[in-house]
Amino acid sequence: MSLIVVSNRLPVKILEKDGAWKAIPAAGGLVTAMTPVLKQRGGIWIGWPGGETAGGDDLTEVLGQASETAGYDLHPVELTEEDVAGFYHGFSNGVLWPVLHDLHLHAHFEESYWKSYREVNEKFARVIAEHAGAHDAVWIHDYHLMLVASALRQIGASPRTEFFLHTPFPPLDIFSNLPWRSEILQGLLEFDVVGFQTVRDRDNYLHCLNELVPGVAIEGSGRVLRVRLGGRVAHVGAFPISIDAAHFETMARSGEVAEEAGRIATRAGNLHVVLGVDRLDYTKGIPHRLKGFRRALEREPSLEGHILMVQLVVPSREPIPEYMNLKAEIDQLVGEINGDFTRSGWAPIHYLFRSLSQTDLVALYRAAQTMLVTPLKDGMNLVAKEYCASNVDESGALILSEFAGTAAQLGEHTLLVNPHDTEGMADAIIQAYQMPPDERQRRMRKLRNSIAAEDIFWWVDSFLQAAEPAAV
Ligand code: ADP
Ligand code: F6P
Repeated sequence: MSLIVVSNRLPVKILEKDGAWKAIPAAGGLVTAMTPVLKQRGGIWIGWPGGETAGGDDLTEVLGQASETAGYDLHPVELTEEDVAGFYHGFSNGVLWPVLHDLHLHAHFEESYWKSYREVNEKFARVIAEHAGAHDAVWIHDYHLMLVASALRQIGASPRTEFFLHTPFPPLDIFSNLPWRSEILQGLLEFDVVGFQTVRDRDNYLHCLNELVPGVAIEGSGRVLRVRLGGRVAHVGAFPISIDAAHFETMARSGEVAEEAGRIATRAGNLHVVLGVDRLDYTKGIPHRLKGFRRALEREPSLEGHILMVQLVVPSREPIPEYMNLKAEIDQLVGEINGDFTRSGWAPIHYLFRSLSQTDLVALYRAAQTMLVTPLKDGMNLVAKEYCASNVDESGALILSEFAGTAAQLGEHTLLVNPHDTEGMADAIIQAYQMPPDERQRRMRKLRNSIAAEDIFWWVDSFLQAAEPAAV
């Protein structure tokens, strides 16, 4: 049996650099989570090579090289410009992304996007059918590909399929706004296993099914339930995704990271570094966080000259107007706060808009005394777990949004905040700044133990157990 991972994006993007095609690492939680799994088990990753449109021999060659480096095979699903506009920017990121994150008022419900979504799901199904044998495990990931199982059935291919949703699933009142709600709900039941990040997401989905799809029967109890519809049974469960914690720990202890973390610490001097690391996305609550930081500076004069917020943003989905507007809003807020508070020799915010290597990222995690993970809504948020796994000296504090999936697992040992509550965010920043070392250590040890115990390999095992035919 081989493992076939399918996601919209491959773990690399193909770009033209100095006249040659290159594969560069793609950023995002899905890629971080699934890369160690394929490295360990081997197999195939099917997805869109993103970036620019290399095709034909160029694409085969560059993906061949990337497969050798990765240690598993990368197979492309080539998307046309129309596919990218309608399926990726249009339906996936302009409709599903906001609806799934409770932000349906940001959604653009265009019939043409829906048509493109169905067509591209069929395209993925055709590529999967070329590669999947009857005994292979086909793991399909995320909201871009919710119709792939039904598309596979339509072309007469019936490998066993498992689906995992990396985003949240919203409550009925939000999800019912989607004009194609029944098709999506039923499309998911065509998979053999459907995984959600939290029990709340799973229950939201089941509630939507109960209310919107006649004839559904939900059976069983515990983390994985059986759902019957028209003679088919799907297993539906909650499986909080994670990271390769040991890998982050090893990196954090490496000489390379220690050197870079030392350089950052020297530059920061005595400043208490609070760090934010996010993809450019309106779900991440970056402006809310900046406003909370500004309020902390206003309220607590002792922070002046003693605290530094480092905000790292990785570019993402920039052709979508909401993302461009967000970039402008962040630029403006950072400018205003630095303009208002900078004193000779000290500026309160250091803002970087780019992707970093994992070594540099882990060095930043190590150098930061406090981590701010404050999304308005997030499926899980792996940055929070990466920070803790990298905090080998157990001296960091984590400020965490109660609306991140991570909060269900780790909330108890963090400073939990509602990102819309500016005063509450300022309270948490001040509390973290003043938190004594023994309290930091006590909390961080609990966080690290929990992440080490339920890492990505634990996730794989729990997902596979749910997929066992014996679980029927
Ligand atoms: P999402 O899946 O919505 O992007 P996550 O927090 O789950 O959110 O995952 C983000 C991933 O992207 C993490 O693995 C993180 O290390 C990576 N990442 C975020 N910002 C950067 C950056 N500037 N450079 C490199 N990787 C980044
Ligand atoms: O679930 C998070 C996610 O949407 C992944 O599916 C995706 O790979 C990642 O964020 C980055 O987004 P994009 O692929 O649109 O750049």
